[in-house]
Amino acid sequence: MLSVKGLGKIFFNGAGERAPKVVLKDLSFDLGKNDSLAVMGPSGCGKTTLLLTIAGLLAPTEGNIRLDDEDVRKPSRKTALVLQEKVFSPGRAFGRTSPWVPGCRRSSSRMTSCRP
Ligand SMILES: Nc1ncnc2c1ncn2[C@@H]1O[C@H](COP(=O)(O)OP(=O)(O)OP(=O)(O)O)[C@@H](O)[C@H]1O
Ligand SMILES: [Mg+2]
Repeated sequence: MLSVKGLGKIFFNGAGERAPKVVLKDLSFDLGKNDSLAVMGPSGCGKTTLLLTIAGLLAPTEGNIRLDDEDVRKPSRKTALVLQEKVFSPGRAFGRTSPWVPGCRRSSSRMTSCRP
């Protein structure tokens, strides 16, 4: 069970920007076991920010996120994230280039297992 309550995220350090940027504001929803959620919106509306926050990779400015009745404050093996951007170097083992991806671990020199 994922529970998002009153989630807000403000970036205070936007590159080349003077004013703080409010990206998420008072966002609340619950997701049960086997539920799916598609997040859609124009570029820059905060989709990646939301996913990074749920994955425990970004701290919210307001609100809280609970996964299976535990506060999400850091990455855990219960969450995994596949990024849209290319972040891996060709020819490099996945686990070597992204040891921080939550839910994933290297099981051999060139393979990584991810738990759902
Ligand atoms: N670390 C950061 N510091 C400052 N501003 C940021 C940071 N990360 C994202 N932003 C800003 O927050 C807003 C939301 O960005 P985000 O990447 O979440 O959007 P998105 O919906 O995923 O966009 P896209 O569809 O292009 O992937 C953008 O205006 C972006 O410039
Ligand atoms: Mg994005």
